[in-house]
Amino acid sequence: SAVELDRVAELVRSVPDYPQPGVLFRDITPVLADGEAFATVATEIAARTGEADVVVGVEARGFLLGAAVALVAGVGTVPVRKAGKLPAVAASRTYDLEYGTATLELPAGVVEPGTRVYVVDDVLATGGTAAAACALLTDAGAEIVGFGTLLELTALDGRAKLDGVRVDALLSG
Ligand code: PRP
Ligand code: HPA
Repeated sequence: SAVELDRVAELVRSVPDYPQPGVLFRDITPVLADGEAFATVATEIAARTGEADVVVGVEARGFLLGAAVALVAGVGTVPVRKAGKLPAVAASRTYDLEYGTATLELPAGVVEPGTRVYVVDDVLATGGTAAAACALLTDAGAEIVGFGTLLELTALDGRAKLDGVRVDALLSG
C-alpha cells in the first residue's frame, strides 16, 4: 500500500561520499532490518513477477531481496555474482558502474534456454549492473519478464540501458 511504501521510503538512508567522494549512496540496510518493511518490499515486487519461472538476484543486496521475492512468488532463485565467486560459470560480462567497473557471472547449468526470469536488485542507478545481468541471461537464451528494484535513481536514467525490459521500481528518487 502507499502507506507501507512511505514507511519503506523513510527507512532508506542516504550516505554522502560513499563509496567515493561525490556519490550520495542510498543504503537499504534499514529497510531489510525492519520486518514489516522487508515484507512490504518482497510482497510488492513479487506481485510484479508475473509468469516468471525463476527470480535472479544480483550480488550482493539483490540476493537478499531476490531470495525473499522468489519465496513469496513461489519460484526458485538464481544468483548472478561478481567475478571469481562461482565454482561453475556459464558466462561473464564486464560493465561500468557509477563508481568503477565490475564483472558479473551467471552460474552454469541452472538457466535453461526458454526460462522466464525476473531480475531483482536493490537500486537501479546507471543501469550498468542491470543491463549486464540481463545480457548474461538473454545470451543464455532466457526470456526477461522484467526487472524489479526497490529504488530507481531516475536522474541517472538507468532504464535507458534496459531496452525492451519492463522496469518495476517501488520508489524513485
Ligand atoms: C550497487 C547496487 C546495484 C548497482 C547499481 O551494487 O546494489 O547492484 O550498484 O548501480 P548501477 O545501476 O549504476 O549499475 P554494487 O556494485 O555497489 O555492489 P554490491 O551490491 O556487491 O555492494
Ligand atoms: N545505492 C546502492 N547502490 C548503488 C547506488 C546507491 O546509491 N549507486 C549506485 N549503486
